[in-house]
Amino acid sequence: MPSNTTDKILRGGEEVNEPIGRFDTARTLNRGFNVAPALAKGIGLTFLFALVGSLARVVVPVLMQQTIDKGLQPGDIRLGFILQMCAVAALSVVIAAFALRQAVLRLGIGAEEGLYSMRVKLFDHIHRLSLADHNDERRGALVSRVTSDIETLTMFFSWGALVWLLDGSLMFVVACVMLAYDWILALVAFAVSAPLFLVLRNLQKRLVAAYDLAREHNAELLGSVSELISGTETLKAYQAHHPMVARSKKAVRKRADSQIRAGVIGAFLFPSGEVFAVFTIVAIIVVGIFRGVDSGLTAGSMVGFVFLTYRFLEPIAEFTEVVDQTQTAVAGLRRVLGVLDTPTGPTAPTKPLPLPKTPLSIDISDVSFSYSSRIDNHDDDLPVLRHISFTIPAQQHVALVGSSGSGKTTLAKLIARFADPTLGAISLGGVNLKRIANDELRRRLVVVPQEPFLFADSIANNLFFASPSCNEDDLKKVIAQLELSDWVESLPNGLDTFVGQRGSAISAGERQLVALARAALTNPDVLILDEATSAVDAIAEVRLAKALNAISEGRTTISIAHRLSTAARADRVIVLEGGLVTEDGSHEELLANNREYAKIYAQWLSATSVTENG
Ligand SMILES: Nc1ncnc2c1ncn2[C@@H]1O[C@H](COP(=O)(O)OP(=O)(O)OP(=O)(O)O)[C@@H](O)[C@H]1O
Ligand SMILES: [Mg+2]
Repeated sequence: MPSNTTDKILRGGEEVNEPIGRFDTARTLNRGFNVAPALAKGIGLTFLFALVGSLARVVVPVLMQQTIDKGLQPGDIRLGFILQMCAVAALSVVIAAFALRQAVLRLGIGAEEGLYSMRVKLFDHIHRLSLADHNDERRGALVSRVTSDIETLTMFFSWGALVWLLDGSLMFVVACVMLAYDWILALVAFAVSAPLFLVLRNLQKRLVAAYDLAREHNAELLGSVSELISGTETLKAYQAHHPMVARSKKAVRKRADSQIRAGVIGAFLFPSGEVFAVFTIVAIIVVGIFRGVDSGLTAGSMVGFVFLTYRFLEPIAEFTEVVDQTQTAVAGLRRVLGVLDTPTGPTAPTKPLPLPKTPLSIDISDVSFSYSSRIDNHDDDLPVLRHISFTIPAQQHVALVGSSGSGKTTLAKLIARFADPTLGAISLGGVNLKRIANDELRRRLVVVPQEPFLFADSIANNLFFASPSCNEDDLKKVIAQLELSDWVESLPNGLDTFVGQRGSAISAGERQLVALARAALTNPDVLILDEATSAVDAIAEVRLAKALNAISEGRTTISIAHRLSTAARADRVIVLEGGLVTEDGSHEELLANNREYAKIYAQWLSATSVTENG
């Protein structure tokens, strides 16, 4: 049973907005790097390049200080020294450009490689998710959500991560150099510029909110204008355009007001960096002057320091902007990891046991089952299946009957090992399902699901894809055996008839026939047929019944019967109600018992005779 934490992670894999407590940012990042090692691979060297690039950018103010202090002494201009400094400056600019380019390139490649492997892992994981817990729709929703989360990460790496890397290392290097120059002035600069971060952050939040509102008002405006135009006829007919025009005018005003508001905040935001920079520089100069020449502060160091301060303040505005993006990216990463934490289907045995070559029996002993999604939601309802035990001898045809939601499909999923029972065990031919190799199990046991999936291709290809080793003759044999030849002949292009997307070009009954023929072609020993609930016409019904009779011949068969005619023809009927086996015996025995089965059979009989007569 999952612990409380994994519970939450599991749910994080399914529900979009749920925060995942206890899973802090550092751990999320750490796990992200574990899942996609390319993200972290060589990150040390990338940082080194960024540091070298920043260092080379800081060299220019330092050289300026050197030039002023040593090359431009009153009455002593040392041209040679100045040229030397210029040459070093030029070189450092080239080095900075090269190092920064290297850092950006490495970050970009690492990010793309990392996200690539993350995508592959995710889709693979979603593909392997427990078939019992996740249907096609849920899987589809997961894929689209995960795609958008990865897109968020891609956006982060194309900007946010760059800002952290380049601006972060620049600020670090500049701060170090400032401290080395004059720690008192450096502390003054840090203290005066600190509020800048808070002010910028606050303004940016307001700006984002203001633009959100402006967008909302814009949508309102578009809506009301388009209504005004498309509804012109109606409005004219009733002479009612005045209130509508007034409404549109109001929407235009609202849009303009919100845009102006956003503009006002933007206008505040735009120069605030400059204003703070000026305050900081003034503070530095005042403190510098007060400390006087005795403190060892030269004119050159003052100028150099002022330039360094500008370098230090430059990235702050960008930093405040990426904070939001970073939070969104971490949340995206967290959800991606949540999906990867969702348990996949049953694991393959390490030492599989072979199945006997003879026909296979099915042994279900004390099986109970709960869907994990239900456990997570703390629904306190009962397990879907409770203490089920029965044995089906080899080659027996059993019909499983019960009202909707009684657990028939769930039991079929367990026998096919799409999930393992929560309690109890199932064996096939005397071998526990957990010990059977997956490919052997799939070869010997086939499930025809309640909603068989057909690919947008011909009927023949829909039959062949599950048994690539079969040829046309095998196919013909199976068609004859299932007595489907007349049906195939009635089709416009025979077996080459195109079935359409998901089989939409053929009828529901025909889709089931294709699914039956597909199963028969693989020639399994055990067949589980989950009869579709959708109604089929009388001709299809007869065809299906004949095919089912033929296909169950010599095979251990479980048919989940919605049409009780199927149950009447089976060797044995098992009735499932509320996850419990309530009746078990031949059709005649159960009728004689005169319990639930006899009642629903009588109801079914009168209902079908009514429709047939009507
Ligand atoms: N993937 C799932 N996650 C959670 N609960 C599920 C899932 N699939 C089925 N259930 C629940 O398990 C119970 C049994 O469902 P099951 O599909 O086995 O019923 P059924 O007997 O096949 O019904 P029907 O006759 O309608 O096909 C139902 O209450 C259903 O809501
Ligand atoms: Mg079902």
